[in-house]
This record gives sequence, C-alpha cells and structure tokens, in this order.
Amino acid sequence: MKTTSFLVACVLLSCFLGACHGGNLRKNFYRNSCPQAEAIVKTKIQQHVAARPELPAKLIRMHFHDCFVRGCDGSVLLDSTATSKAEKDSIPNLSLAGYDVIDDIKAAIEAKCSGIVSCADILALATRDAFSVRFNNVPLWEVLTGRRDGRVSTASEALANLPPPFFNFTQLKQSFESKKLTVHDLVVLSSAHTIGVGHCNLFSNRLFNFTGKGDQDPSLNPTYADFLKTKCQGLSDTTTTVELDPNGSTKFDNDYYNILVQNKGLFQSDAALLTTKTSRNIVNELRNQNKFYTEFGQSMQRMGAIEVLTGSAGEIRHKCSVVNSN
Ligand code: HEM
Ligand SMILES: *[C@@H]1O[C@H](CO)[C@@H](O)[C@H](O)[C@H]1NC(C)=O
Ligand SMILES: *[C@@H]1O[C@H](CO)[C@@H](O)[C@H](O)[C@H]1NC(C)=O
Ligand SMILES: *[C@@H]1O[C@H](CO)[C@@H](O)[C@H](O)[C@H]1NC(C)=O
Ligand SMILES: *[C@@H]1O[C@H](CO)[C@@H](O)[C@H](O)[C@H]1NC(C)=O
Repeated sequence: MKTTSFLVACVLLSCFLGACHGGNLRKNFYRNSCPQAEAIVKTKIQQHVAARPELPAKLIRMHFHDCFVRGCDGSVLLDSTATSKAEKDSIPNLSLAGYDVIDDIKAAIEAKCSGIVSCADILALATRDAFSVRFNNVPLWEVLTGRRDGRVSTASEALANLPPPFFNFTQLKQSFESKKLTVHDLVVLSSAHTIGVGHCNLFSNRLFNFTGKGDQDPSLNPTYADFLKTKCQGLSDTTTTVELDPNGSTKFDNDYYNILVQNKGLFQSDAALLTTKTSRNIVNELRNQNKFYTEFGQSMQRMGAIEVLTGSAGEIRHKCSVVNSN
C-alpha cells in the first residue's frame, strides 16, 4: 500500500515536472531560451493558412512522415546531398509540401534567437497551429517541445518505414507497433484522412484490377467506386487527385469513421481497419464526437514523441534543409 502511494506520487511529480508522455519533452521548453518562439510559429501559420487552406493536411502528413523515419527529428526536411538521397526524394514523398512554410518560420525564429529552436519542434508546433487556425479555433492537442534535429536522412529508410496504402491490417499493426504505437493509435490517427487529397494511382487497383482479372475491390462501396472512376483515368493515372473524404475535406472531425463504415475508405489501408473485430470496435467508439477529439490529441502526442532526440543528442539546425556544417 505504502509502496503504491509512493509510486503514484512519483508519477504525479514527474508529470508535474513535465516528464510524462513525451519522455524528455516538456511543455514550453523555450520559455526562457526563446520566449517568442511559439508565438512566431502561430503568427506565421495564420498568414500561410489564410493563403493556402490545404496546409494542415500537408503539414500533418509531413509530421507523420518525419516521426516514422528516425523519430521526430526533422529528417524529412533535409535536402539530398551529393552523396545521399534524402527522405524527401523517396517515393512516399508524393505530394509532400509546405517545406517553404517551415523554412519561413525557421528564418523568423533564427532572427530572434539563433540556434535555439529545432526544426523538429517547429514542424510539430506548426502542424498543431495549422489545425487550430483552419478548423477548430482551439489547439486540439498539446505539443511538448525540446526535440533536437537529426543529421541523417535517407530515401531508403523512408521506403522501409512508411506504410504504403496497400498494407493490410496485420502489416499496419506491425508498422505502428514498431514505433511503439498501438492499434488504437492506428485507428485514431487514420482519421487524418478526413482532410486532404490522394493520387489515383494509389487506389486505382481497387477500381480497375483488384486481383489481376480486371475486377473491382468487393470491399469498396460500388457507388463510391463509380464516382471514383469518373475521376481517375486508369491504373497509371499519377496526376489526378481526389479528396480523401468523399463527404468533403473542409472540416476536421470524426466523419472519417462514418464514411469508413459505408465502405468509402479510399485506400486499402483505410478499409483494412474494418477487417478485425478489435479495430472495428475502435472505429465504432470513435464515431462519438467528443471522445474523438480527446483521443486524436492523445495519439498525436504519442506520435510526436516517437524516438525523439533530446538533451545533447543531435543538433539545432540553423537551416531546416541542411545539417550544420560543424
Ligand atoms: C495508417 C497508415 C497510413 C497510410 C498507409 C497512409 C497513406 C497515405 C497516402 C497513400 C496518401 C496519399 C498521398 C498522395 O496521393 O499524395 C495519404 C495522404 C494523407 N495522409 Fe496518410 N497514411 C497513413 C497514415 C496517416 C497518418 C498517421 C496521418 C497523420 C496523422 C496521415 C495524414 C494524411 C493526410 C493529411 C493526407 C493528405 C495529404 C494531402 O492532402 O496532400 N496519414 N496517406
Ligand atoms: C519526390 O521525389 C522525387 C524523386 O523520387 C523528386 O523528383 C521530387 O521532387 C520529390 N518531391 C518533393 C515534393 O520533394
Ligand atoms: C497481409 O499481408 C501479408 C504480406 O503480403 C500476408 O503475408 C498476410 O497473410 C496478410 N494478412 C492478411 C490477414 O491478409
Ligand atoms: C491486371 O493485372 C494482371 C495481373 O497482374 C495483368 O496481367 C494485367 O495486365 C492487368 N491489367 C491491366 C489493364 O493493367
Ligand atoms: C456528410 O456531411 C453532411 C453535411 O455536413 C452530414 O450531415 C452527414 O452526416 C455527413 N455524412 C457522413 C456519412 O458523415
């Protein structure tokens, strides 16, 4: 009994000190070292999102790709070099965008406090702020800070670590578990597919040649398939995009799950969430709106803490697209 209360007290104390959730990440890490940092991110994001409403989708996908390859260390932001092809130039990079926005925020922050705020933290903060500016007016999740930037980015690691849209449930589960995320996180985070767009070639096998016999995926809603066929030119249409949510991508809410249970998930990886009892139960729970926002915020925090570099690991890049020269 005594030991239990002691342990509880320790957990509470460490949470109070900011050490729960994100390991060594903390709330407002830059409070003293660069007090304006978070405000600069917010102001810049307000300006950029006003001009480019698609930014929340671009940034959250970039943050996801960053965290799944070498942890959330800003490696997705690095350019290729003469000797190494970077994550950004690998196949899953398709339609990643918003690098210029991160660079712009970084430049503004460097002008106030040079060499203090990491690119990995800027991406995490910018993603959260893009969502609140565009959709809900309030931050939907808390971003703990103190991430440091990695010095390595390789295209082959992006290919090996990012789940492709053709993955089945077992493969998706493995992919998320390899990042210490659960099936619950998988189902929750997949709802990001209620905003943004996807290219035809990433799902058109479901429309035109599912098993190699010129057939359609039987788990895809036939009416929705007919609609998609009016958009996509064929199996190798790499230029047309459609909204991931057929009910519109202008809101961020739990619509994803209502769409999904009508068999209107766009990718096989979306449809895969209906193929096990466990994941189907989570889908049904998340159709409850209030619960959804809480769960989404918690899973975003867990994603944002994947294998982070803290303390004296890594570096604080001066420019997000290149490692420091020292
Ligand atoms: C579960 C495994 C996942 C798979 C297989 C997957 C796959 C994909 C694919 C293939 C696209 C379309 C890319 C294109 O055509 O340009 C896409 C788009 C997108 N994904 Fe995922 N994704 C997954 C998880 C996530 C997660 C965890 C998030 C964020 C939390 C996310 C956020 C997005 C967003 C917002 C878009 C739209 C991007 C845009 O409009 O440019 N996805 N995803
Ligand atoms: C994605 O990678 C390809 C090479 O595989 C490259 O040509 C393209 O510019 C990259 N796209 C972005 C947005 O970085
Ligand atoms: C998922 O895909 C893997 C690899 O293709 C395959 O071995 C496995 O049998 C599939 N699992 C299910 C449940 O379809
Ligand atoms: C459909 O898939 C089969 C088997 O992979 C292939 O032989 C055939 O050429 C494909 N059809 C088209 C139209 O690409
Ligand atoms: C689609 O959007 C409409 C209007 O916003 C909403 O009433 C309806 O419930 C949505 N459909 C699904 C399946 O979520």
